[in-house]
Amino acid sequence: MLKGTITIPSDKSISQRALILSTLAQGSFEIKNFCLSQDCLSTLGVVKNLGIDTEFVSETHIKLKNNGLLAPQNILNCNNSGTCMRMMSGVLAGQNFNSILIGDESLSKRPMKRIIDPLILMGAKCKSNNGYAPLKFYGQNLYGIKYLSPVSSAQVKSAVLLAGVQAEDVTVFSEPFKSRNHTEIMLKNMGADIYVNKNEIKIKKSVLSPKNISVVGDFSSAAFFIAAGLVIPNSEIIIKNVGLNPTRTGFLSILKNMNANIEILDYNENNGEPYGDLKVNYSNLTGITIEGEVIPNAIDELPLFALLGACANGKTVLKDASELRKKESDRISAIVNEIQKLGIVIEETPDGFIVEGKQSFTGGIEVSSHKDHRIAMCLYIAGLLCKEPISIKDFDCINISFPEFINLIEQISV
Ligand code: S3P
Repeated sequence: MLKGTITIPSDKSISQRALILSTLAQGSFEIKNFCLSQDCLSTLGVVKNLGIDTEFVSETHIKLKNNGLLAPQNILNCNNSGTCMRMMSGVLAGQNFNSILIGDESLSKRPMKRIIDPLILMGAKCKSNNGYAPLKFYGQNLYGIKYLSPVSSAQVKSAVLLAGVQAEDVTVFSEPFKSRNHTEIMLKNMGADIYVNKNEIKIKKSVLSPKNISVVGDFSSAAFFIAAGLVIPNSEIIIKNVGLNPTRTGFLSILKNMNANIEILDYNENNGEPYGDLKVNYSNLTGITIEGEVIPNAIDELPLFALLGACANGKTVLKDASELRKKESDRISAIVNEIQKLGIVIEETPDGFIVEGKQSFTGGIEVSSHKDHRIAMCLYIAGLLCKEPISIKDFDCINISFPEFINLIEQISV
């Protein structure tokens, strides 16, 4: 069982945004509680290549200085990070120099047309490999557009907003359902002329000012512990410093509908980002159907529903989640195939899965992370439920988002 208190490390999305937005504001910045994951270090490498001075004051405290962006001397390597590639595209499309963005094998298979299309409408000149990385931007003057995104994606939204803050006239962006809004919050804090009305955002060309930030804990990292606490009998844990931005916590509202016993103990705000402590107790969960508006707000947590559903009473159905197939791996197929190996009966559907409850995890076998950090950690939690131990291939990919995962699990395992 799991018992005790842990503190969740820094949010990856917000840490990356703090670095990326520093490229659009001249002056000095400090980021406290920076996320030391590989994705964030990839983004740090990219901004350094663009002439941003960086200095680590302590392990998670960075000082940055932007004296004006410089044409990169090297190709900009985003490695595994979709956030880095898609958001930096918005920045680079509007610069007065050329740049090339590349990624690893997984990132090179992820769709970039979703950002190239709106950026081209804004006047960007971009050469891609048929809508995939590498992406070459020929810096251009941009102009505002009115864009209705076919997907609810914070990465697409952020690319358009970061181009929009550099573009002539107004840029108006809307999406079917509201995705995470960290970029809007940070742009506003840095003085952008930005106006948000539900899922429509208007932004005008603005001069941004540096703004120091202390990053809250990552809700998506906390989610593994929330799920584990709910399904491992007799568990009772407190998870501190969890980012609670409502555009990220769809998982909590869904869990409430599954009868999960979770309490928010403390609620504060930091740089416009809510955070707090969560108390999670082992719970008798009820299976439900998850679909529609909540999907973008729970997107990175959805593979965990396969486990929760297998433990709940009755059937759990995930719908409207075909976006999961475009992540670091095809997360629908990955989680369904791997937990089948652990003895779970689960049916893959085009946009989700169907899993019957009250099943037992047998284990005693090797499963694959598909080199996807969230699948790896999800399988680790599944392993804690298995009768026989399991091994997880390519488990070290957890460093992409959450290098502290094992230490924290060990801290509360009794
Ligand atoms: C992210 C947005 C989400 C999420 C990803 C990080 C971000 O992607 O899955 O892990 O930092 O903006 P989409 O916005 O493309 O769904």
